[in-house]
Amino acid sequence: MEIDPSAVSLRPFRISDADDFLSFAGDDRVTRFLRWKTLASREEALATIRDVCIPHPWRRAVCVGDRCVGFVSIWSGSGDDRCRADIGYGVAREWWGKGVATRAVRMALSQVFGDFPDVLRIQAFVGVDNKASQRVLEKAGFTRDGLLRKYAYLKGNLQDPYLYSFLSTDVVPAD
Ligand SMILES: CC(C)(COP(=O)(O)OP(=O)(O)OC[C@H]1O[C@@H](n2cnc3c(N)ncnc32)[C@H](O)[C@@H]1OP(=O)(O)O)[C@@H](O)C(=O)NCCC(=O)NCCS
Repeated sequence: MEIDPSAVSLRPFRISDADDFLSFAGDDRVTRFLRWKTLASREEALATIRDVCIPHPWRRAVCVGDRCVGFVSIWSGSGDDRCRADIGYGVAREWWGKGVATRAVRMALSQVFGDFPDVLRIQAFVGVDNKASQRVLEKAGFTRDGLLRKYAYLKGNLQDPYLYSFLSTDVVPAD
């Protein structure tokens, strides 16, 4: 069943999120589509929050209530690539299929063009097998730009990902 969208929020990561962070960053079912190494311990989760998530230019904890159930990240280009940014996200397995990621991506889109005034395009690379992520992007208003043949390796496997984009002039669909 879909969650009430107003229960989902974004906030900066906190050290106290370590156990919740490990519940998804330590789960191969979540990390298999990410460039992240699957975390193996609470210590690794703490170090990743401290050294990567908190200093990150734009990484937010996706929360239901105050509990961290996922993440959404935006990283922008520089120089001649400053017009675009990439988005990535993931949600703990127990929360899949409830609309959490779609809500989080919509909230990120409503914030990032203000936070990065040079950015006009948010893009995402999605594996052809990752139907859930493709659906999230479509529900959030992204356009599929095309298939990138033999584009990059993910965990040792050469990928033909779809490229999706959302422009600052696009409209985020209502919940
Ligand atoms: C992708 C991911 C973030 C989706 O999170 P979520 O909170 O379950 O997403 P939502 O509930 O908002 O939407 C999922 C949609 O995908 C659909 N879906 C799920 N599995 C599907 C499948 N195998 N085939 C087709 N559609 C599928 C759901 O039915 C839902 O669509 P609907 O609302 O039209 O029914 C989550 O699966 C995840 O963390 N995956 C691992 C990390 C990842 O892939 N990140 C993205 C990398 S590009």
